Amino acid sequence: MENMLHLVPSHAASIPDSFVLPADHLRPATAAAAVSLPVIDMSRGRDEVRRAMLDAGKEHGFFQVVNHGVPEQVLRDMEAVCQEFFGMPAADKAEFYSEDKSRRNRLFSGTTYETLGERYWRDCLRLVYPLPDGDTKEWPHKPQKLREVVENFTVRARGLAMEILRLLCEVMGLRPDYFEGDISGGRVALDINHYPPCPNPSRTLGLPPHCDRDLITILLPGTVPGLEVAYKGDWIRVQPVPNSFVVNFGLQLEVVTNGMLKSVEHRAATNSAAPRMSVATFIVPADDCVVGPAEEFVGEDNPPRYRTLRVGDFKRMHNVVNLGSSLNQITNLKSNQKEI
Ligand code: OGA
Ligand code: NI
Repeated sequence: MENMLHLVPSHAASIPDSFVLPADHLRPATAAAAVSLPVIDMSRGRDEVRRAMLDAGKEHGFFQVVNHGVPEQVLRDMEAVCQEFFGMPAADKAEFYSEDKSRRNRLFSGTTYETLGERYWRDCLRLVYPLPDGDTKEWPHKPQKLREVVENFTVRARGLAMEILRLLCEVMGLRPDYFEGDISGGRVALDINHYPPCPNPSRTLGLPPHCDRDLITILLPGTVPGLEVAYKGDWIRVQPVPNSFVVNFGLQLEVVTNGMLKSVEHRAATNSAAPRMSVATFIVPADDCVVGPAEEFVGEDNPPRYRTLRVGDFKRMHNVVNLGSSLNQITNLKSNQKEI
């Protein structure tokens, strides 16, 4: 529990050595001025929206959505209750703290990927919403409103994710229910990320460069910038748009589309001025679900570029963030697939 960064009231003038990353892994974002993530207004016509998603998806693997149908109040309540959770006295959070990675619901610090021992400037409350029954028994009892607020947010965010998947099916020529069932029906996993102010933001990261491993991610980005997305060998710094979600494709979506939609690397930067909160909602396939390129994306001129694998096996192998591989995760995905 003493690992939790946010429990140290003011961090000393420098960060512990375990957080210091090699300089060549910390290239700052420089494309920010020139390129920004597309913002898609989902209240526009269906055809316009789905085309914009496909274009943005092909170009960036990421986009932002506004007028997405999740009421502002749901976002505000979620932000407030998450703040309240991290603001509780340490004793109230201690029973939820665990370094046991097999525990699905827990509070921890750092990252859950198998890194090489380096640490990351992030505290995280991870909550899992199993499907189809959505059992919240193991979620924190305090703050009192947490279960109700987070469940409501989770159901809405999942609904949005499924709507985006349907739009993508329509525009890509897949049957509209392709992503119903096991491929989206394992569980919803929420990472409520809290990045405290960091005295040396140029020497560390909140999250290492990584691709999300599931189907699709809906991120509530908070109001403080920090998310950076790989783009043409550089990093784009995402400017949060009020009441937006950031949407990005997980590795399973890249596999289904045989590489048409890419799961793009991203990372979280820290800053010295203000704490940052973000909520990542991951749509997770059932472990037993077998995922491979859909036949619509495979043809004589377009052989399968990925193997068809059980999601559980895929994830067991693809659990390593190798800092040296930054911006080259696609190659990793393919070589990992060969090893299974
Ligand atoms: C994640 C993630 C980005 C952020 O939780 O997988 O990429 O901005 N988060 O917190
Ligand atoms: Ni991520």
